[in-house]
Amino acid sequence: MKLSQPYSGNASFDGELAIAGVSASSLAQEFGTPLFVIDEDDFMERANAWKAALEKNFGENAGTVYYAAKAFLNKEVARWVADLGIGLDACSAGELAVATSVDFPAARIEMHGNNKSEAEIENAISSGVGTIVMDSFHEIERVARIAARLGKIQKVYLRITAGVEAHTHEFISTAHEDQKFGFSIASGAAWKAIEETLTHKSLNLSGIHSHIGSQIFINDGFEVAATRLIELLAKYHEHFDLQLPELDLGGGYGIAYLPGESGLVPDEVMGAIAEVVKSECEKHGLRIPKISIEPGRHIVGPTTTTIYEVGTTKNVELEGGLTRRYISIDGGMSDNIRPSLYGAKYTALLANRLSAAATVDSRIVGKHCETGDIVIREIDLPEDIAPGDLIAVPATGAYGRSMASNYNHIPRPAVVAVKDGVARLLTRRESISDLLALDI
Ligand code: LLP
Repeated sequence: MKLSQPYSGNASFDGELAIAGVSASSLAQEFGTPLFVIDEDDFMERANAWKAALEKNFGENAGTVYYAAKAFLNKEVARWVADLGIGLDACSAGELAVATSVDFPAARIEMHGNNKSEAEIENAISSGVGTIVMDSFHEIERVARIAARLGKIQKVYLRITAGVEAHTHEFISTAHEDQKFGFSIASGAAWKAIEETLTHKSLNLSGIHSHIGSQIFINDGFEVAATRLIELLAKYHEHFDLQLPELDLGGGYGIAYLPGESGLVPDEVMGAIAEVVKSECEKHGLRIPKISIEPGRHIVGPTTTTIYEVGTTKNVELEGGLTRRYISIDGGMSDNIRPSLYGAKYTALLANRLSAAATVDSRIVGKHCETGDIVIREIDLPEDIAPGDLIAVPATGAYGRSMASNYNHIPRPAVVAVKDGVARLLTRRESISDLLALDI
């Protein structure tokens, strides 16, 4: 039986979970647990869906789909993104290094970050990164100076704060006024940043950028941001009788994490944004700029399932005579910090067998020395789940492995890709010797 969202496109359950035809138990046996399993075809389809949606809805004004590397990046994923012909949004020397290590076409890389170091800026410019998105006045001066020293004219965007409430968790909202990113339109900083950028001959200001937050479902936020950015483009046009040719609307598109939820549909979001962009440009007498986007979570999140092994179970008596079953798995907050950091909710299933047992109120917890090390607070699972069983948690591809830590000196999990019944290792499991190797 094929599984639906939030499971990846090629996940099925016939007595056992299989992803792209590879069973959970064979994955666990070959690669160990916890394990991140990426459904490769699903990744390609999801990335292609964004490219197609951008092209269909903006036609000749379609810019670039930049895959947001922060959601998840390793060398093979960087190769996939390169082969798909889309761009990459990198925001640190480390992400850039992964891309350059596989000869990712630098012109298709966009460099982000609110505090890029001088070394990161120099590295980005000398590797030929297509666009640098500048986030502060200090950075305008730095990028201009370093580009001049390297004898380059660097294409740049300015990150603009549109003053939008994104209807998502505060920590992943980025376009309200009181946060660290961007130049505010409301305060006048955005306009000053434009004027300042234009004074530097080594900077080629090609457009403006806005990213309002992450895991967003309501199109209003994207539409209000687009409207405000186009007003800024119109002001630029009035002032200089020239048009900035590009507009980057960021990422943030929501996905399903729980049964019954559905992720945004690329063609629908792009259609809604295109309507607003077209009518606002018409209103201001502007040519439609080239529109780029930066989806991260929506491309990689649903493609990946984490497989854990159960180590212990325990029944805990609650008030009112109720019982909660604690199921401890062999990972937890070091491979998925999202439940503890954002209150994120996930689902799970018993992956290695079909159980006929009754379900009981269960809590899936990790192995770290912290009460908040909870993967799923409340879920009904078969009461016969026992040590050695496998638990699969879907939709962990975005900000799972990429935010993994070594808390309690737990090595970070391996990442494998599955496709057409074959599994291959993409990132090996960290070992305790890897960790010890850092200490002097
Ligand atoms: N573009 C920019 C400038 C961003 O800052 C981000 C995400 C993206 C694109 C991609 O957003 P996405 O399409 O993946 O939502 N760790 C948090 C999410 C932080 C997002 C940071 N910026 C989480 O686990 O929910």
